[in-house]
Amino acid sequence: MAVSFLSDWDEVVALRNQLDSTGQKLVLTNGVFDVLHVGHTRYLAEARALGDALIVAINGDQSVRELKGPGRPINRAGDRAEVLCALESVDRVVIFEERRASAVIEAIRPHIYTKGGDYTADSLIDEEKALLDRLDIEIQILSLVAGKSTSATLSRMAKDEETLPRIAIFGSGQGSNAQAILEAIGSGQLLAECAAIFTDAEKAPIAEVAREYDVPLVKVDPGTTRGGYLTNAALKELTDRLTAMGVDLVVLAGFMRILRDPLLTVFEGRVLNIHPSLLPEYPGLRAVERALESGANETGTTIHLVDAGIDTGKILRQEAVSIEPGDSSTSLTEKIKAIEHRIFPQVIGELLAQSGKGSGDQAG
Ligand code: GRF
Repeated sequence: MAVSFLSDWDEVVALRNQLDSTGQKLVLTNGVFDVLHVGHTRYLAEARALGDALIVAINGDQSVRELKGPGRPINRAGDRAEVLCALESVDRVVIFEERRASAVIEAIRPHIYTKGGDYTADSLIDEEKALLDRLDIEIQILSLVAGKSTSATLSRMAKDEETLPRIAIFGSGQGSNAQAILEAIGSGQLLAECAAIFTDAEKAPIAEVAREYDVPLVKVDPGTTRGGYLTNAALKELTDRLTAMGVDLVVLAGFMRILRDPLLTVFEGRVLNIHPSLLPEYPGLRAVERALESGANETGTTIHLVDAGIDTGKILRQEAVSIEPGDSSTSLTEKIKAIEHRIFPQVIGELLAQSGKGSGDQAG
C-alpha cells in the first residue's frame, strides 16, 4: 500500500524548488519523535512558523536502535511518520537511515535548519555545521519546552501518574529553587507531581516560573497580620486546600511567611524548608549578609523539617560554601543557590522515598 503521508525525495526537492522560486522558505528539522509529546508539538509549531513549509526527517528504525540503545522499544518509522504528518505544523515527513542528518540536509537543501535547544550552533556536529555553512543554510536553535521531554514523559508513564507523590512549593521571591525542583521533575530525576506553587507575592518571579512550567499558581492571602505571620483563618484555609489537593509534602523555597498550626500538625514531618546558612547559625532574615559581616570564612545552606520555631527543625542536609575575600552578598547568594538547586530535589526525593511515597529511585 502506498503511504501517502510519506514523501519521496523527488517530491520534497520539487517542493523546495517551488518555494524557492516564489521567495518562500522551507524549514527542515530532524529527530526520532518516537514518543510524541507537547515539547515536540510546540517545537514543531515554532519551527514551521519560521518559514512557509516544514519537513521533518525522522531516523529510520535501525538508526533509532543505534542511537537510543537496544532497551528502547521501537515505534516503527512508518507509524511515527503518519502521526507527525497529522500535525498541522508538518508538511512532509521523510525517513533517513544514517545516524547523522548530513545527507538529508544536502539532498533537501532547506532554507532554514532547526534543532532543539539542548544544542547550540557550536555544539552541532562539525560535519553538519560545515555543510550548513557551505550551503548557506540558516541555523535556528529553538528553546526546549521546560519540563516536557521524552525521558520525563516515559518515566511518568512508567510510574503511573496517579501514584506519583504530590508536592506543593511555597515561595515569595525569585523561584530559582522552585525552578530547579520542576526541572528535576521534568527530567524524570524526581518522581513527583507538583500540585501547585503557593505564593504571597503574585508579582514575584516565582509566579512566572509557575506559568512557564504549567503549574497551578495559588495565591496565599496572609490576612491582616503584621510581620511574616499568617492569620489563623489563613492557616486553616491553607491546610484545607493542601489536604484537598492530596499534597504529600510541603516544600518551602524562599517563602517569607511563618507557618503554624493547624498546618504543622496536619503535615507533621512533611514540611521542608531550605535556609541559606549552616543552621543553627544565622536563622531568620539576612542570613547571607550576617555570615558575610561576621568575617567567617564559610557559610552554606541547610535543608530541614519545619517545626514551630524559626529555622529550628530537624536538619536533613547541609552543605558549606567558602566565603572568599571579594565576596558580596550577591556573589555568595549565587554560590549558595547553585548548591541548593542540586541538593533540594535530591532531599525531596529521599524524603518522599522514606515516607513510602516515592519509588526510592529518586534523584541521586
Ligand atoms: C534561597 O536562598 C533559600 O535558601 C532561602 O530563600 C532563597 C530562595 O531563593 N530560603 P529562590 O526564590 O528559590 O531563588
